[in-house]
Amino acid sequence: MSSPHLGVVGLGVMGRNLALNARDAGVTVAGTDLGQDAVDGFAQEGGEAVTATTDLDAFLAALPTPRNILVMVPAGKAVDAVLGSLAPKLAPGDLVIDGGNSHFPDTQRRHDEMAARGLNFFGMGVSGGEDGARHGPSMMPGGPKEVYARVAPILEGMAAEVDGEPCVAHLGAGASGHYVKMVHNGIEYGLMQLLAEAYDLLKRGAGLGNDRMGDLFAEWNDGELRSYLVEITAHILRQPDVVAVAPDETPGHEGPPEGMAGRYLLNFIKDTAKQKGTGKWTSQDALDLGVPTPTIDAAVTARYVSALKDERVAASSLLGEPAGRAPGDPEELVAAVGDALLAAFLVTYAQGFALLKRASDAYEYGLDLGTVAKIWRGGCIIRADLLETFREAFDADPELPNLLVAPPVAEALIGHRGALRRAVVLGAQAGIPTPCLSTALAYLDAYRSEWLPANLVAAQRDYFGAHTFARIDQDGMHHAQWEPAGL
Ligand code: 6PG
Repeated sequence: MSSPHLGVVGLGVMGRNLALNARDAGVTVAGTDLGQDAVDGFAQEGGEAVTATTDLDAFLAALPTPRNILVMVPAGKAVDAVLGSLAPKLAPGDLVIDGGNSHFPDTQRRHDEMAARGLNFFGMGVSGGEDGARHGPSMMPGGPKEVYARVAPILEGMAAEVDGEPCVAHLGAGASGHYVKMVHNGIEYGLMQLLAEAYDLLKRGAGLGNDRMGDLFAEWNDGELRSYLVEITAHILRQPDVVAVAPDETPGHEGPPEGMAGRYLLNFIKDTAKQKGTGKWTSQDALDLGVPTPTIDAAVTARYVSALKDERVAASSLLGEPAGRAPGDPEELVAAVGDALLAAFLVTYAQGFALLKRASDAYEYGLDLGTVAKIWRGGCIIRADLLETFREAFDADPELPNLLVAPPVAEALIGHRGALRRAVVLGAQAGIPTPCLSTALAYLDAYRSEWLPANLVAAQRDYFGAHTFARIDQDGMHHAQWEPAGL
């Protein structure tokens, strides 16, 4: 049998690294790009197992049919442009995989357009950045299931592995792959902001320095919080600043040169964070589907607030800088933050998975949430030991309405929610904004509240708009003759 083939369109950072990864997995790779430099670079790095050309016809001729083609170009118009050039030249049964961060409605449209031409189309989320692409990403393909078997050996050879299981699987129909990747990124936004708030509580609230904070994050990474994002946060906190150092003074393993000790790169990074849109899309669709994802929403909003740097600077002198030390023993806050993070991480994943569950029903994706948790255990940005717990919970009960009520998650929340409350209270007393920790706590408290004050909201709607309300003691909808307002 001849070796599997993969064509890669777009030899930028992600495309080139995925192509080289495929080559290392024993796949015969053909690459194409509009840029001659990208093609030459790939040909040189790829060696004999790859072919590379700027000519689309030559690229297609190098691939046996039915072809498997991975498109790695920026999301948006570029994907439509590539599909527009490819589609008329493809043969029925060929498969095109869009591996970028495309918005799921675009993916659904492309899937349908390609299907109308007798062509197969997968939207595939790829997570793990440049290094993941080269050495083992998590990949989230969705589309026609019957074609997956053909590319499974290729993708499984490229993917990260956890306990011998590849971090890739066919997820579901239509745009499900890009939907799952979008929610991955929404969770990513939430976890990143939670870590930033923990850093703020420790730095401004408890007065800790970077080394101690780095040690704390490293310690947490040795326990239940073990995850890629906690691990890199520990590294980031301790990284010395070398920008101002001449190259021959660049610190080696012995640490920063004389006079540079205590200068941390993080302290010189401007406090504004950008975004490319996947977090926002998650919140937008959650609102459309009526699924509460407040911690993800708060993380998206926190990036917008961070971008108002000039306004914040002006307001801080007019309104007064709020942040100070938390009251009491700083060690009380330090002790709460790690457990608070664990509780808030659980809540954030729970919101993301609840959204996936609803979306799977609404869009008929047919997602298996245990499989999603399984392929997120390695390779991707939100990989964490917790994912194994989630996988077991969904495998045990695929209809679980929310991870918060999975027995091991509930037990962890009962054990850690006190710390989350302490961290939020101490943060509020210190004037430190904790939008994600606070919304995680509020979501948890609301979700476990048998009674909520929405009866008053229902009454207000009926009062001013005769919108009717349900009663707890009678069936049907009711309207009351409310006493007129005296104003
Ligand atoms: C991944 C990441 C990646 C994303 C970056 C930046 O899974 O590898 O999610 O796909 O592009 O994290 O995203 P923002 O610019 O929106 O922060």
